[in-house]
Amino acid sequence: MSADSQASSPVPLVRAGGIGVRRAGRWIFREVDLEVVRGNLVFLIGANGAGKTTCAKAALGLIDIDEGYVDRSPSLCVGYVPQRLAVSPTLPLSVRRLMQLTGRFPASEIDSALNSVGLERLGDPPVVNLSGGELQRLLLASALIRKPDLLVLDEPDQGVDVAGSDVLHSLIDAIRISTDCGVLWISHDLELAMKAGDDFVVLVPHEHEDRPLSRPDAV
Ligand SMILES: Nc1ncnc2c1ncn2[C@@H]1O[C@H](COP(=O)(O)OP(=O)(O)OP(=O)(O)O)[C@@H](O)[C@H]1O
Ligand SMILES: [Mg+2]
Repeated sequence: MSADSQASSPVPLVRAGGIGVRRAGRWIFREVDLEVVRGNLVFLIGANGAGKTTCAKAALGLIDIDEGYVDRSPSLCVGYVPQRLAVSPTLPLSVRRLMQLTGRFPASEIDSALNSVGLERLGDPPVVNLSGGELQRLLLASALIRKPDLLVLDEPDQGVDVAGSDVLHSLIDAIRISTDCGVLWISHDLELAMKAGDDFVVLVPHEHEDRPLSRPDAV
C-alpha cells in the first residue's frame, strides 16, 4: 500500500447519520451516528433496553429506520453473531449442521473456520451439549466462514466467565488484525470499549421526544 493511500481516509464499510427507530408509538433510539471502517473496532455501548440490538440491525439494513440515513459499501459481506441463537436449543442441531445454516460450505472451509476459533477438536456434537463459551465461539465461526468485511457481534461474551471472555476478546482482536475486517461490537462494558476500541457510541435509554430534531448543522 502506498503512503498516499494510507494517508487518505478509508471508505466506511457502514456509516449511519442521525438514525432513529420508532416502534409501537415510541422512539427506541434517536440521533445515533455510527461509522465502521475496515480494520477498526467500534463498540456500541448501552444499558439493557437502550436499543443496541435494534440500532445494529438498523445499521445493517435488517430493519427500517424512521429518520436519518445509512450508507453501506457496495456488496458488503456481513458476519452477524446475534445476541440469541435463533434456532430452538431443543432442535437436534449438530455443530457442523449449524455451520451450514447460512450456506453450503466445503468440509475444509468448515474445518478452517472451527480451527480459527479453537474448536478444531470439537467433533460434531449436538449444539445443546456445548458450554456457553464454546457456543459463542461456534457462532463466531459460523459468521467467519462467510469471510466478512464487517463482523457484527451482539454481546459475544454474555454467559462466558472472565477467563473465557478474555480468550474471546483476544480471539476477536486476532481475527480483526489477520483479516482486516471492521468489527462492530455490542457490549455493556464501557471500560472495555475505552480500552480496546478505536471508537465507541453510547446509547442512553430515555424517553425520546416526539418532535422533529433540530440538529446544529441543520439550516
Ligand atoms: N419491534 C419492536 N416493537 C416494539 N418495541 C421494540 C421492538 N424492538 C425492540 N423494542 C424495544 O426497544 C427497546 C430496546 O431493545 P433492544 O433489544 O434494541 O435493546 P438492547 O440495548 O439490545 O438491550 P439488551 O442489553 O437487553 O440486549 C426494548 O424496550 C424493546 O422492547
Ligand atoms: Mg440487545
